[in-house]
Amino acid sequence: MDLGAMLAGKRVLVTGASSGLGDNFARLAAGCKAKVVIAARRKDRLDALAEQLHDLGSPQVTVLEMDVASEASVDAAFGAIDASGGPLDVVVNNAGVAGDGLALELPTETFDAVLDVNVRGVWLVSVRAARRWKWLGRGGSIINIASIQGERVMAGITPYSASKAAVVHMTKSFALEWARHGIRVNAIEPGYIGTEMTEAMWETDYGKALIKRIPMRRLGRPEELDGLFLLMATEAGSWMTGACVPVDGGHLCSSL
Ligand SMILES: NC(=O)c1ccc[n+]([C@@H]2O[C@H](COP(=O)([O-])OP(=O)(O)OC[C@H]3O[C@@H](n4cnc5c(N)ncnc54)[C@H](OP(=O)(O)O)[C@@H]3O)[C@@H](O)[C@H]2O)c1
Repeated sequence: MDLGAMLAGKRVLVTGASSGLGDNFARLAAGCKAKVVIAARRKDRLDALAEQLHDLGSPQVTVLEMDVASEASVDAAFGAIDASGGPLDVVVNNAGVAGDGLALELPTETFDAVLDVNVRGVWLVSVRAARRWKWLGRGGSIINIASIQGERVMAGITPYSASKAAVVHMTKSFALEWARHGIRVNAIEPGYIGTEMTEAMWETDYGKALIKRIPMRRLGRPEELDGLFLLMATEAGSWMTGACVPVDGGHLCSSL
């Protein structure tokens, strides 16, 4: 079964495509000859990526400046999607922020900022996509990028862990409500992967100690999510919904 070929011609929205995992998902989809809609706040980065996506083989690339935490921005972006290139087939809720600090010292604004992007953003984008699919009488696939932090916690990132646990539950709850409409909703739970979100940390003693706790003793690479992504995105995963699957070098089963 050629999962990449099954994505050809589909229209895929990737939020947070301006760096890291989102950039990788957009390149993967483009290489499979999918139409790609790339969204984030830093449009200069998206414009540079768009040229490369064409070169990789995408027949249609749409660049959207979108702040997932803003209802007005998400509505405007979906208006632009509606007006260009046909309906979406796959929505990847990848945009996310961290927000480090011990709970006793964190300002409330940090908590709000993390929850606004990581939780509210997934809600705003998913509901708009699902409403359109229901109205059109067609299904679709939503892939939420959660985290192993959605299953277990570590000190110093309480808002982030709480937000990813919310994404895990939203994934299952959306799956339950929307299965009847042919809409599948699944989540990838990555472990530690070297991207801009975390790159400064891995060079510190603290970061190096964290890597030693991963059973495979190394960080993941963005492309190590590709296989699961394609399974969730395509008809190869046609009976798969509400699944939240870790890809983490064994981290979630590390020894207590
Ligand atoms: N790297 C890891 O180890 C790891 C592990 C588990 C889960 N994850 C999850 O994977 C996803 C991607 O993270 P990453 O590691 O690739 O981090 P990253 O390189 O920092 O990328 C984050 C992306 O989110 C976008 N973003 C942030 N706030 C946004 C907003 N308000 N509206 C729209 N886009 C926004 C950023 O684009 P702009 O700044 O241009 O808007 C950027 O493209 C996140 O959900 C993260 O929680 C990462």
